[in-house]
Amino acid sequence: MEIKERDGLARIAKFETPHGTIETPTVLPVINPNIMDITPQEMKPLGLQGIITNSYIILRTPQLRDRALKEGLHSLIGYDGPIMTDSGTFQSYVYGSIEFNNREVVDFQKRIGSDISTILDVFTTPGTSRSEAEKALIETYNRMMEVNDETGIIAGPVQGGIYPDLRRRSAELMNSTNARYHPIGGVVPLLETYDYSTLVDIIINSKISLSFNRPVHLFGGGHPMFFAFSVYMGVDLFDSASYVKYAKDDRLIYPDGTRDLARITELPQWSPLYDKYTVKEIRDLDREKRSVEIARHNLKAIFMEIAEIKERIYEEGLAQYVAQKARSHPSLMKAYWRMMSYSNILEKYEDLSKKTAYFFYDSFSTRNPYVSRLNRFTESFLSSNRKDTYAFNARAWVPGYTNSEFVRDVYQRIDCNALISWSGTFVPAELENTYPVEQTVSSGFETDPDFSRVKDMISPFRVDVYKGEKFEGEPVRSFNLNKIRTVADYQFGFGVGKMLFRDDVKINVSKTGRIRGILSKDGRQIATLRNDGFFTLTYYGASLIHSQLKRPSMRVIVSRDSAEYNAKGYSVFFKFVVDADENIVAKNDVLVVDEDDGLVAVGKATVSGRELKEYTEGIAVKVHEGRDQSEK
Ligand code: GUN
Repeated sequence: MEIKERDGLARIAKFETPHGTIETPTVLPVINPNIMDITPQEMKPLGLQGIITNSYIILRTPQLRDRALKEGLHSLIGYDGPIMTDSGTFQSYVYGSIEFNNREVVDFQKRIGSDISTILDVFTTPGTSRSEAEKALIETYNRMMEVNDETGIIAGPVQGGIYPDLRRRSAELMNSTNARYHPIGGVVPLLETYDYSTLVDIIINSKISLSFNRPVHLFGGGHPMFFAFSVYMGVDLFDSASYVKYAKDDRLIYPDGTRDLARITELPQWSPLYDKYTVKEIRDLDREKRSVEIARHNLKAIFMEIAEIKERIYEEGLAQYVAQKARSHPSLMKAYWRMMSYSNILEKYEDLSKKTAYFFYDSFSTRNPYVSRLNRFTESFLSSNRKDTYAFNARAWVPGYTNSEFVRDVYQRIDCNALISWSGTFVPAELENTYPVEQTVSSGFETDPDFSRVKDMISPFRVDVYKGEKFEGEPVRSFNLNKIRTVADYQFGFGVGKMLFRDDVKINVSKTGRIRGILSKDGRQIATLRNDGFFTLTYYGASLIHSQLKRPSMRVIVSRDSAEYNAKGYSVFFKFVVDADENIVAKNDVLVVDEDDGLVAVGKATVSGRELKEYTEGIAVKVHEGRDQSEK
């Protein structure tokens, strides 16, 4: 997969198939080869990237089977783009069994020229017992192994029922095979009953155990209500039969839910039916025509939601969209809460900062992955700075507006930790300008944090809420020096602040008091502080870290061939990455080193540490300065 854009686990990526490239996230509409009321050609203008059809239906229908074998699947369907085929698993689940075995079904899919063939996995329902679910996932794995040496793209579904550990196990097993595509299976009953919170457990546990280099598909996840959530958790593709199924029941799909034709008064303007019919005219259509027309409306709703999600990914604002979606149905709210309980996992894949502000809505926002990342830092900060602490509540210190001499005087005249209140939690005051502390748009519904928690962290030292005390005397420390060191510790790891910035550095400050560039005593540029409150390192700055910070921290190790180019300032491609520090945060500066740990360049990682190791196509590190370019 080639990643074009990302926003946490969500990504816009390109996936190659024999009949063309699929740009994810997308939906593959289900095409019934017996009934093609709306052809794939007609769906193209909506943004169709590919379709899915059922090879089992073709296999057991003699006319379809003969035509498919003779002319090929693409001719049968009348579509020259990517076609995925399912295997009959769902039919096997509904009817108890089917008359073909796994090998026969896969062989057939390959013979008719399917772009993505699916094994006959064993469907597990939410009601399946643990031991049955375990047996089914092992059988599914064995069936994948039966066809493991086949060429082409084979989809290896993840099963495991509602058991998070079994989902992980199934995903790990599937990941070890040659499957190049992973649907998450057995979830249709959960979608039908709006049990989105159980789905959250299933998706996250499956996703993190699968290679990031393979597309993940949510089998049967065809209603747009849950698209944004799924994409946020790393799902790339969906299939949808719901556009037809709902239409048959006179139900219209909207991005946030479903409405009965009998109960609507007007069509939305985006509907393809808007210019053609009044609601009454649709109701008066004969049954067959009516359901085809409603299916068109439903398809539009589905693709419209995909387009919206892509836009949110481009603007790095999917998290806000998901927070907004959570309010559209109580089951989604419950799922949101569940999803936020995985913040410590989601956080690993979140970018260092985003183009969009951090939105504080209400107490739910305090469980956001960025808050979890900051809380973790604050805990380490306090345990390595055990001293008396002043807690500034929201009125005493407003992040981003703290250049007031007054607070500076307090800070600089006492040698205490200073914690500021932010989004219902507390963070070191030195991070006041660092994303998302300053870049927050708040509803104002946050409450002051529970500072008593700090007591345990710094015991036996004291925590006092600052009440306006004044301090006399000479400054005992520099706010700006502590600030740049704390930001560097937060950005690059504890201890890096002191490696990078000695006591005698020169800190350039703008007219408004904001820190810009940091230079060494002899005038060499070390780093610049950006508007998001993080540093961009120069090669010199990187070399200061490199000589003091042990391997593998901050390292992206590249092959010898690549090192030569990176030293000249060219970007690092994934295919040349030999290894990378797992703790690298996407969009953070990294040290590009050769296999002997020689520093060749400094640049910005496009993805997280784990992804650096897994992707194979595209740019891994955008180099901003190579060894050969740096002033000697
Ligand atoms: N369609 C909906 N769910 C499933 C599943 O679990 N496996 C397969 N193969 N197809 C599906």
